This record gives sequence, structure tokens and C-alpha cells, in this order.
Amino acid sequence: MTAASPLDTTLINDTVDAANRLRAGQLVAFPTETVYGLGANALDPIAVARIFEAKNRPDFDPLIVHLADFEQLDTVTRRVPDVARALADQFWPGPLTMVLPKSDAVPDLVTSGLDGVGVRIPRHDIARQLLRAADCPVAAPSANPFGGVSPTTAVHVLQGLSGRIDAVLDGGPCPVGVESTVVSLMNDKPVVLRLGGLPLEALEEVTGPIEVACANPEKDDAAQPAPGMLSRHYAPGASIVPIEADAVIQSAGPRTALLTWGTALAEGEYLAVERLSRSDDLQECAANFFAALRSLDAANPDVIIARRFPDHGLGRTLNDRLQRASG
Ligand code: TXA
Ligand code: MG
Repeated sequence: MTAASPLDTTLINDTVDAANRLRAGQLVAFPTETVYGLGANALDPIAVARIFEAKNRPDFDPLIVHLADFEQLDTVTRRVPDVARALADQFWPGPLTMVLPKSDAVPDLVTSGLDGVGVRIPRHDIARQLLRAADCPVAAPSANPFGGVSPTTAVHVLQGLSGRIDAVLDGGPCPVGVESTVVSLMNDKPVVLRLGGLPLEALEEVTGPIEVACANPEKDDAAQPAPGMLSRHYAPGASIVPIEADAVIQSAGPRTALLTWGTALAEGEYLAVERLSRSDDLQECAANFFAALRSLDAANPDVIIARRFPDHGLGRTLNDRLQRASG
């Protein structure tokens, strides 16, 4: 790919301006309840191609299509199974992405040539205003360079993509803080492809016990059971060492940083410490997680020791992100 000349990335506050830009084929980052997305008109293949270029994203990793309301689902899908309707009733708008049989209107580039399209109706007010005003489905991956830490503020987006995208719509910090849960409904049995902001237990109240597809470390990134299921992802520059929640936290030397939560004590010296929640509030931990990783990374430690989370609800999602950030 040839290097495009740098763009003048503008920080904006007006959803109508942002919507007009999307309709004109521009790339606009926008807030959702999970993380900031890098949006383009999903039905415009040239705009969608620019997303892959701006992020340096491999074309085998498909994009989620964001919708304003349930009625738009007919444009991008050709069949909506009953279980998908039940899940939509319960969890949309919200941090749930469903992979459903795609319609011909969706360019193959959006789905990386797959027969399924990932769709989601976000809950964030500004995202909903934007999607309504744009009046088109909006393809949007997380608004970070490929493989990096997902952005939860407009400043994070600019740090990673300034000069590569047209605009960032500022909506303050994202309240959920981790990406959506992705569930495939392409076969009879639903399968979770990515743990996320909607806890598995909540999903299972509608679907019953559900399979969670796991990354296969023996295989290449392009040959994983689900696309985009990469072993190393969400990764800062420093190496991350997860430790068990009940283990003694011990510094590995003066160039150690610490990512922790709750009241656990830590022994030794640290270059930087981030405590995600003073209690054991997993929602608060998730909301602060990516920003904390960035700020620890900025201190340039040799290693980040990270206290694992209880393996339920959002804790399970956070443990997944820690594991992948540690590669
Ligand atoms: O919360 C989120 O999901 C955010 C906000 C912006 O909505 N988006 C996000 O997108 O995290 P991204 O591109 O960073 O991650 C999307 C992942 C892909 O890597 C892939 O694993 C899965 O969702 N996915 C998307 N479309 C798919 C499809 N058609 N089939 C299977 N998996 C798909
Ligand atoms: Mg991403």
C-alpha cells in the first residue's frame, strides 16, 4: 500500500457534522459505550478500504457494522434467527455484537469475504445520534492502530491515528471500557467468538450454556477458529506478567509497573502504579482498564505486573484481555 499524505485530523463535537462526513466517505472516530470506533459508511467499499489502511489492519480481520435501530438490520442481513431476535430484545442497544448471514448490500471487504456480518446497535447516546443522522450502517473497528490498546477517550484516538483519519467526535470517556461481546449465530448453536462488555452469564440466561471459541496457539493468526482471534492483541509496548488474584504482589525491581485493583498490598518498589478500583467493582475496573495500561506504558517500565481478576462476569473478559496483552 502506498503511504497516503497525512490528513488534518479534526476534533469535533457536532454529531451532524460527523454524520455528513461519514456520508461523504470520510473516516470519523466516534464514542460508543465500549470503546471509540473508527467509522466509515459500511456500504461504501472505498471508505471501508480506508479503514484498513488507516489502522494497518490485515484484510482477514472483519469489521463490525453499527446500526441505529433494529429496522436497519434488514439492509445488512438476509436472515435473523429467533435466538438473535431474543438476544436483540434483551441486550440491544448495548455491548453485544451478533454475527448473522450477510446481505449482498454489505461489501465483502467488511466481512473479510465471510458469509456472516457482525452487527451491533450501540447504547451510547452520541453514537445513536450519529447513526441516526448518518442514516447508513457504519462499519467501525476500535479506533487504534492494529494490535494496539483500544481507545476509551478522544485523546487516545488522536495519539494513535492523528494524520490518518478525517475527524474524531469527542464524547468523553467510554463508560463500559472493553469491547463488545461477539457471538456467532451462523450455525444452530450460538458460539462466543470474543468475551466482552456483556457478561457471559447474562448471555447464557437467553441462550442456555454457550460454547466459547478459543484461540489456537499452534495456528497462524489468519487460520484461527474465528477471524481476528489473535494471540497477541490489545498490547502496550512493555511486557505484561499476569499474577493470580490471591498471590503476593512483589516488585521485580525498580523498573516494574503495577496494574492492580481492590485493597491488595504490594511489596517493593514500583515505577508506576494504577489501581483500577478501590473496591472490587469489576465495572469500574473495566472502565479504567485500557487507560491504565496506556498510562503505565507511558512510564516506560521493563515489565507490568498485572493482578488477575475473579473469573466471572467482566472479570473473565478482563482476564482475556490481560492474557492477550501479555501475548
Ligand atoms: O465494542 C466493540 O466491538 C468496538 C466498538 C467500536 O463497537 N469494536 C471493535 O471492533 O472492537 P474490532 O474491529 O476492534 O473487533 C471486531 C472483532 C473482529 O476482530 C472479529 O474478531 C469479530 O469482531 N468480528 C467482526 N465481524 C465478524 C464476522 N463477520 N465474523 C466473525 N467475527 C467477526
Ligand atoms: Mg480492535
